[in-house]
Amino acid sequence: MQLRDQHVLITGGSSGIGLALARQAAAAGARVSLVARDPAKLAAAQAAVGGPTFAAAADVAVEAQLLAAIAAAERAHGPVDVFIASAGMARPGYFAEVPVAVFERTMAVNYFGTLYALKAVVPAMRARGRGAVVLVSSGAGLHGFFGYTPYSPTKFALRGLAEALRAELRDTGVHVMIVYPPDTDTPQLAEENRTKPVETRALTAGGGRWTAEDVAHVTLAGLARRRFSVTPGWPLTALAWFGGVLGPVLHWSFDRTARRARAAAGRKPADH
Ligand SMILES: NC(=O)c1ccc[n+]([C@@H]2O[C@H](COP(=O)([O-])OP(=O)(O)OC[C@H]3O[C@@H](n4cnc5c(N)ncnc54)[C@H](OP(=O)(O)O)[C@@H]3O)[C@@H](O)[C@H]2O)c1
Repeated sequence: MQLRDQHVLITGGSSGIGLALARQAAAAGARVSLVARDPAKLAAAQAAVGGPTFAAAADVAVEAQLLAAIAAAERAHGPVDVFIASAGMARPGYFAEVPVAVFERTMAVNYFGTLYALKAVVPAMRARGRGAVVLVSSGAGLHGFFGYTPYSPTKFALRGLAEALRAELRDTGVHVMIVYPPDTDTPQLAEENRTKPVETRALTAGGGRWTAEDVAHVTLAGLARRRFSVTPGWPLTALAWFGGVLGPVLHWSFDRTARRARAAAGRKPADH
């Protein structure tokens, strides 16, 4: 799918992967709209993306705010041709120590913040017989990692939504895509690192980090080829293809890494 002259609306477009997607979409000739909460970050992103970029402040977890932002973007740039749901949050921690409110908030932002926007933009795309929606999941949406009990289910939920929606929209001209980014150097990852349990740190230590620009590049390349599932890098590609078959081996390997990290930190399973 070509982005020239398309209206590309990106939630979470003021930072990290969303901002990189916005920059690259604008460079490809798209009219870009950004939605996020902090007006100062939005203004900085608008300047960084350049061109006729539109920005509206909204909390994606509050449906009325999100719908108002999408309506304002459509007044500025016309109907949304490509919608990208990149707004998200992650607060890793031990299951026993994370308050239920964090589980609720993470689902509200990551899942419902995506769903509300899809409900707003998909009907008009169907009516026009064209358009694309891109859901940003995570490697943690392919496998449940230690320390990610509040986050993994929200990203698994996006996978279920994308698969069911893909099937429903198959012959309507509206393309559905889901991307599973690996660890990517962004403010969210820095924030996650503040609360990651030692076991989670050990599990994610060897994987390296992608840049937001590289994740955005692979994402938009997948969109151009109308791919359904995009997994940047071979480890997540292997997980997506063989995760089910390799489940027992992965559990054995990840459990061993977690056990060693816990022992090195002088912790016991009963500590959390
Ligand atoms: N970084 C990684 O390692 C990684 C790996 C896999 C998947 N992902 C996923 O990739 C997506 C982007 O993450 P990132 O790493 O690029 O994060 P980031 O740099 O922290 O950017 C997050 C963006 O989402 C916005 N946002 C957060 N909560 C929001 C809310 N309630 N309403 C509206 N906007 C909100 C933020 O702006 P405001 O704070 O101003 O609202 C910001 O624009 C997320 O869905 C994340 O789960 C990230």
